[in-house]
Amino acid sequence: MTDGRPEPAAADRQPPTVRPVRATDAESLHAVHAQCFDPRSGEFWRRSDLVAALDQPTMTALVAETPAGVTMGYALARRAADQAEILSLGVAPDNRRSGCARHLLRQMVKRLKRQGVSHVFLEVRETNVAARALYEAAGFRVIGRRRAYYLSHDGTRTDGLTMMVNTSRDLFNGTA
Ligand SMILES: CC(C)(COP(=O)(O)OP(=O)(O)OC[C@H]1O[C@@H](n2cnc3c(N)ncnc32)[C@H](O)[C@@H]1OP(=O)(O)O)[C@@H](O)C(=O)NCCC(=O)NCCS
Repeated sequence: MTDGRPEPAAADRQPPTVRPVRATDAESLHAVHAQCFDPRSGEFWRRSDLVAALDQPTMTALVAETPAGVTMGYALARRAADQAEILSLGVAPDNRRSGCARHLLRQMVKRLKRQGVSHVFLEVRETNVAARALYEAAGFRVIGRRRAYYLSHDGTRTDGLTMMVNTSRDLFNGTA
């Protein structure tokens, strides 16, 4: 509190700590996920699906948290040989535009590279301006389009863009 008004949560602009997900993170991770994706959309994972995914040995899962241990965001990727796919990434609305996704993405690609991954792929809604800007700033480039890939809750469909980055690249031109 300052002058009697609550501080906005986003006022805490310290860089997040990014670390591997623990089993005990499932609930808070899913709570953030549910703030990021409409439960009626194809991008939404039920809690049980998330818990099952976290158990997979091919999964790399990271959380970003405040110094007080509050979950701000997460990133999930699945490896297959020398390739990986980012399956889900989200930052709680109160924590956006503070570099959280930038940190998560950078750490994720670093870790995947150490695990022998040469190329990281992902799918993004063509209309997702924030996510596209994030991935483009990181150095991902569009390599394909999947027509009507995403189904929205109102029944309309949106194209998906497939993006890729080479892990030898310095993400965000080394600025994150
Ligand atoms: C996309 C998302 C993960 C970005 O998280 P974030 O923590 O706010 O992103 P960052 O603060 O790290 O932003 C890094 C860069 O990404 C770009 N960016 C992020 N949000 C943006 C927005 N709303 N508009 C335009 N550019 C944006 C900017 O280049 C930004 O750098 P800048 O702040 O120096 O301009 C977040 O908006 C989110 O969780 N959205 C809902 C879930 C989602 O769409 N996930 C991706 C599915 S593919």
